[in-house]
Amino acid sequence: MNLPDRAALRARFPALASGTVFLENAGGSQVPACVADAVHRYLRETYVQLGAGYPLSRHCTQVVADAHAFARTFVNAARGGQAMIGPSSTVMLNMLAGCYGQVLAPGSEIILAETGHEANLGPWKRLERLGATIRWWPLDPELQLCPLDALDALLSDRTALVALPHVSNLLGGIVDLPEVVRMAHGAGARVVADGVAYAPHRAIDVDAWGVDWYVYSTYKVYGPHMAVLYGRDDALAELPSPNHFFVPRDDLPYLFEPGGPSHEGCAGLLALGEYLQFLAGADGGGPCDRAAVERAFAVMEQLEAPLVARLLEYLHGKPGVRVIGPQEAGPARVGTVSFVHERLTAREIAAILDRTAIAVRHGHMYAWHLVKALGLDLEDGVLRVSFVHYNTLDEIERLIEVLETIL
Ligand SMILES: Cc1ncc(COP(=O)(O)O)c(C=O)c1O
Repeated sequence: MNLPDRAALRARFPALASGTVFLENAGGSQVPACVADAVHRYLRETYVQLGAGYPLSRHCTQVVADAHAFARTFVNAARGGQAMIGPSSTVMLNMLAGCYGQVLAPGSEIILAETGHEANLGPWKRLERLGATIRWWPLDPELQLCPLDALDALLSDRTALVALPHVSNLLGGIVDLPEVVRMAHGAGARVVADGVAYAPHRAIDVDAWGVDWYVYSTYKVYGPHMAVLYGRDDALAELPSPNHFFVPRDDLPYLFEPGGPSHEGCAGLLALGEYLQFLAGADGGGPCDRAAVERAFAVMEQLEAPLVARLLEYLHGKPGVRVIGPQEAGPARVGTVSFVHERLTAREIAAILDRTAIAVRHGHMYAWHLVKALGLDLEDGVLRVSFVHYNTLDEIERLIEVLETIL
């Protein structure tokens, strides 16, 4: 595979020239100039409301429609379904849970993976007040994942939903989502997958996976601060409208976008296609197609892999360090590497790195139940280093140099 020149790739991200080493990408990624410029241009030149008849309004209506088409291509909703755009994954999942709360039969059970981010736990836990029963799918601390046989034991004809992260934002291992979907569907349950920590690293393919609901945050995938929620047609059809009473049922995806998406954000999201085409080695003339999305993410995976391997190799060689999550690098692991140290707190390590302009984060990072299950201090949590394809081995070496002075 032809990999793009890393310097040329990095030059497309203005923020990367700042001197900060961005290793907090699981919190939020940087954006290429084409995305920032599109938002800027939209606000300066075409900032009018959608749906009116004058040319500028018609143009904006088209931009937002094109952004939805891009989102569908991005998640590969080739055989139907909707890609809804909203302010954040948390908001989208709350909306979804609000809809389910109105239709779940008494005695319905919801299975929640203990590895989840609170955004895909809290909204479901709150349905207990409406009579749903929560069943926890526990972490196996040895395996550092929620095992499939434990899910199998929980599934029954009472299971309405299984909510899980495709990748935990602390652990970094990719869950076998197609198998979870197969098992859940076998029990007649729907699957709500949180793809936030997966989407910056690999191509989403909702069609191949058969998943009912899949959400990711665009601001962690080189775009503006929004989120995309994919819903399968049959899953959408089961739910009441979360929108105004007069919005027609077939007005999709708007029916599930109460308040509508950020229009300038849609302009930015759409412009990401240009960057993906660059990564894919495509000419960038027309709209970004599915082949370009897949090639772009294959390139990202190749660029990221040596960094994961190098950091894990270093951490494994340090006495007193415990890597949280899968221990081995490989295709089923993304560039999110968490660890704890027997003597230093995660807060202390983060504070030292902060002073050297190496951006990392520590804490439970909203994976509260996971940190509790790991038996770690909830305040201190883990030290998380999260990188993506635009980071370099040199940056990892810089991190290691500082860690070497303190670990
Ligand atoms: C795995 C995971 N899920 C969900 C969220 C929530 O996303 P948002 O900020 O778009 O609500 C985050 C945010 O950090 C996350 O890491």
